Amino acid sequence: MQGVTIVDHPLVQHKLTLMRAKERSTKGFRQLLNEIGMLLCYEVTRDLPMEHITIETPLAEMRAPQIAGKKLVFAPILRAGVGFLDGMLDLVPSARVAHIGLYRDPETLQAVEYYFKAPSDLADRLVMVLDPMLATANSAIAAIDRLKQRGAKDLRFVCLLAAPEGVAKMQEAHPDVRIWTAAIDERLNDHGYIVPGLGDAGDRMFGTR
Ligand code: URA
Repeated sequence: MQGVTIVDHPLVQHKLTLMRAKERSTKGFRQLLNEIGMLLCYEVTRDLPMEHITIETPLAEMRAPQIAGKKLVFAPILRAGVGFLDGMLDLVPSARVAHIGLYRDPETLQAVEYYFKAPSDLADRLVMVLDPMLATANSAIAAIDRLKQRGAKDLRFVCLLAAPEGVAKMQEAHPDVRIWTAAIDERLNDHGYIVPGLGDAGDRMFGTR
């Protein structure tokens, strides 16, 4: 599917299976989401632009590569997106973080914003929007709308699981935003949950219900 990268690395797929199983503990679920976050981040950042700088090793001067441009921004959609954050920050410790508070109205399934705080220079940075579940895509679209209003131009969306309906809607609303996911599942059910999915990612991660 164009514009979508399925990260089919064996470690990601194995950990995803562990997360889907309903008997997985809150602690285990959270830890696995962090680990997969790190692995997804590795893939999403694979093509970052590079530049060369001059350094001195203990033996000689050399030209060595480094990532070019301003620090990345991780933009987790609260609350489930936070589950990716620690793993990604372990890999990119200097990244900036934009928090986007959205919840799904259970009746309309529409995204309602209650919090937004982001770096002021979004226009100059690559922004990675994080949400484990791309279901109806309402939250993802609303978050990206808001980030674009605040100047973001270079955005990528990272999730763990996607529904085909969510992918199609995202691509229609934001065709410029590439998507990375560990899997695309069968469908959405009438409550907007991904099937077979893994249930409510936020509840499973935080032990709420
Ligand atoms: N959000 C979740 O946490 N799970 C789903 O299946 C869909 C949206």
